Amino acid sequence: MQIRDKHFDIFISAKKIKKRIQDLAVQINADYVDKNPVFLSILNGAFIFTADMFREISIPAEVSFIKLKSYRKMESSGKVKELIGLEHNIFGRNIIIVEDIVDTGKTLNHILQEFEALGAKSIEILTLLHKPEATKNPVSLKYVGFEIPDKFVVGYGLDYDGYGRNLADLYKIVE
Ligand code: IMP
Repeated sequence: MQIRDKHFDIFISAKKIKKRIQDLAVQINADYVDKNPVFLSILNGAFIFTADMFREISIPAEVSFIKLKSYRKMESSGKVKELIGLEHNIFGRNIIIVEDIVDTGKTLNHILQEFEALGAKSIEILTLLHKPEATKNPVSLKYVGFEIPDKFVVGYGLDYDGYGRNLADLYKIVE
């Protein structure tokens, strides 16, 4: 399968993903009974995973979407990321952050820092994928769908240069 200039092979089937999501949901439904969690999904990558996951949640729960916007500061060359779209009052709530993939861990560390001041009762991470070899900023991940090698993947919400999010299965780059 080709997206732009890169070739990809099937890696994890939609069927396997679905099964894993059901298993994770059993765990989350048990862990969060009477905790009324808020799932905070990180756009864009996590939108499909979140939609499938949330439909397996059978306890009272809310879902909301947030995004990290990158912009360049005029006075420095560094990229600054700003959390946008957080309309939910998370004070005193049990938060489950939903990610598509944890790679270096930079994104999550940034999000967790921003959340520290907001007074959540608890914050846990749910990610479909984790690349342990690539994670330089250690972060504690409570629910992980699949641990994968440090290779670029697309499909099931994840993109290459904006494309491939619509693929039902997950694909891995052919080097
Ligand atoms: P981190 O900050 O390095 O952990 O990167 C996390 C974000 O990078 C994810 O939410 C994805 O948007 C993107 N990303 C990292 N690895 C991949 C990949 O293999 N395929 C597609 N997107 C990726």
